[in-house]
Amino acid sequence: GSGGDLDSEFHSLTEYLMTTLKDQELTVLMSQMALACKATSRACAKAGIANLFGMAGDQNSSGDDQKKLDVLSNDIFVNALLKSGSCCVLVSEENEEPIIVPEKDAGRFCVCFDPLDGSSNIDCNVSTGTIFAVYEKKTPGKLGSVADVLRVGSDIVAAGYCMYGAATELVLCFKGQSVQRFALDPSLGEFVHTHSNVTFPSGGGKKIYSCNEGNFPYWDQPIKDAVTEFKAKKYALRYVGSMVSDVHRTILYGGVFVYPADSKSPKGKLRVLYEGFPMALLVECAGGKASTGMFNGSVQRMLDLEPTHVHERCPVILGSPRDVDFILSKYN
Ligand code: AHG
Ligand code: MN
Ligand code: MN
Ligand code: MN
Repeated sequence: GSGGDLDSEFHSLTEYLMTTLKDQELTVLMSQMALACKATSRACAKAGIANLFGMAGDQNSSGDDQKKLDVLSNDIFVNALLKSGSCCVLVSEENEEPIIVPEKDAGRFCVCFDPLDGSSNIDCNVSTGTIFAVYEKKTPGKLGSVADVLRVGSDIVAAGYCMYGAATELVLCFKGQSVQRFALDPSLGEFVHTHSNVTFPSGGGKKIYSCNEGNFPYWDQPIKDAVTEFKAKKYALRYVGSMVSDVHRTILYGGVFVYPADSKSPKGKLRVLYEGFPMALLVECAGGKASTGMFNGSVQRMLDLEPTHVHERCPVILGSPRDVDFILSKYN
């Protein structure tokens, strides 16, 4: 370029989508997704000014008390995805039932999303995010059904998250492609393509474990033993309490993120369709591993799960192979 960072060549998300996907409908879907992320980023930034802190006064199907921004971000994503003309089924953390798009507006894709992840952190300005997974409809006809999203995780064709932090960053991968990273340039309102082929640090990276140790008394013995040994091996504990933030750091710095089953929540807390699966695909595409740990009687690769309910939960052990394998070895 002509020197400095204002290069004449601007590598945008749109450019990546058009040169990589060669699928008009998926490109439009992802452009609408990016628009919703920008609008949600702005809503989070203005929350204190626009009286958007606090509770909406309702609960969602997971029993979470909904924040005003949970509801606002959900409406932003639902409207953007419906207008894409690319979707036939929408599953959101904030909607009890899947949205079946009317045939006249329907497209090939099903999107499962968590519009505002880590929303308990929003009122104290700690980073939050959005998480999404995309399936391609498999049943015949244009009208979608819940069967199009209750399927094995490895059927997912695209996954991503947007982190509303100091920078608004979008991290996504399309099946068979490597993980890509974009940063929102607010002065342009565009996502700039900052990194291609994002991978875990070789060798496992920094010695970091990430979990809510407040649940230690309720974990099974193998998980207790693994965490106790991480301390003995002088690992650092890093826990934001927003899955998007904890996973983003885990992919970039290394280490492991764990939200195990416990005696209070025998299936763990995180939801399969819009938290576990998308993060599992991203982590695997970045060279990491994502497991349920001991679940329904066996230690499973998370993407091998086949959920039976749209808000089903599963335990999550994901991160560098070095650390995930170490934890799973406690079940031998
Ligand atoms: P959400 O805000 O979408 O309901 O998700 C919150 C999740 C996830 O972001 C995070 O990893 C986990 O809850 C934290 O749970 P604890 O507060 O129990 O540690
Ligand atoms: Mn919630
Ligand atoms: Mn969440
Ligand atoms: Mn959420």
